[in-house]
Amino acid sequence: MNNTVVKASKIWLSSPHMGGTEQHYVQQAFDSNWIAPLGPNVQGFEEAIEDYLSGGVHVAALSSGTGAIHLGLKLLGVGPGDIVLCQSLTFSASANPITYLGGQPVFIDSEKDTWNMSPELLEEAIQHFLSKGKKPKAIIPVHLYGMPYKAEAIRELSLTYGIPVLEDSAEALGSKYHDVPCGTFGDLAVLSFNGNKIITTSGGGALVAHTREHKEKAVFLSTQARDAAPHYQHSEIGFNYRMSNVLAGIGRGQMEVLQARVESRRANHQYYLEHLGKLEGIEFLQEPEGMFSNRWLSCILTPSYEAREKLRLALEAENIESRPLWKPMHLQPVFADCPAFSDGTSEELFQRGLCLPSGSNLDVTDLNRVIAAITKSYTP
Ligand SMILES: Cc1ncc(COP(=O)(O)O)c(C=O)c1O
Repeated sequence: MNNTVVKASKIWLSSPHMGGTEQHYVQQAFDSNWIAPLGPNVQGFEEAIEDYLSGGVHVAALSSGTGAIHLGLKLLGVGPGDIVLCQSLTFSASANPITYLGGQPVFIDSEKDTWNMSPELLEEAIQHFLSKGKKPKAIIPVHLYGMPYKAEAIRELSLTYGIPVLEDSAEALGSKYHDVPCGTFGDLAVLSFNGNKIITTSGGGALVAHTREHKEKAVFLSTQARDAAPHYQHSEIGFNYRMSNVLAGIGRGQMEVLQARVESRRANHQYYLEHLGKLEGIEFLQEPEGMFSNRWLSCILTPSYEAREKLRLALEAENIESRPLWKPMHLQPVFADCPAFSDGTSEELFQRGLCLPSGSNLDVTDLNRVIAAITKSYTP
């Protein structure tokens, strides 16, 4: 007798989804021997993003979103001892680069209707530091899980107090606020093409600038800050952060399917909402007026930490990956000494929230498996 238990195939939280034309661009890189760093795919990928975002932006393709945040902060002049006001409910990569520059992260809690940086707490923090004679150097709001932050309110505070915004749009390519694409709101913005994002280059990112000078400076710094000389000469410390021509080829193919990816992820969210929204105590984040989310990850709120853990473990037992919402940065051991302006919102979201499988390559059988596992084990 064969006692082997056949485990159902793994359902991932968010896995890469190729469109079909990526290999064509990668092959071009091989055929023309543009394997070494730069080449036509990098320019083609940058132009595709610029066309998509519109608004006359200038895009620098880089090796990661984290590197883009690092360079963005550097371009905004962040240096040792400078205060940077960063959304607390986010992935650590939003905040880590502040410390690479010797800056001081200060964390700002979220508001309930977008899960993003609260403009009220942001203003409280700005006034607090101004009253101590210390003007913050930059603000990093995040469009979490694809839901836009209150771009107008944060822009207004930025202009009122003269503090620039580095917009973390790593999770929000394809999202819009009042019909304007996310990635165009900050003085500078950041995109990520990490393997779990809505489109991917396996690893990669971009800095979105509003001036040619900012883009050129980002490219200069990302390619080891080489002065114009026949020999290698450097007057500034540089970085090795440029995207390679091979990976940019994947990006060109992925840009061709971005719109379809947004539609699939939004359809996943709608399907979950229809089937799980009726369960007592399960909540979904609605799109506030004027917001259009790419629904990068579909998330639910359960009534309690215990209910969330029960669901997470039930899904794990069925070989389905899920994950609690981001643990706020002000609760992370590594940032324990950093000041925070918190009202408990992100802490509660972390306790009660769960991200569900959200990939654009999930089919209805996968979604039904997730829904069945939740429905079977859920008790309010
Ligand atoms: C909000 C946020 N910021 C920054 C990053 C960093 O991007 P990357 O992984 O491309 O370095 C990510 C994703 O990884 C992210 O989710």
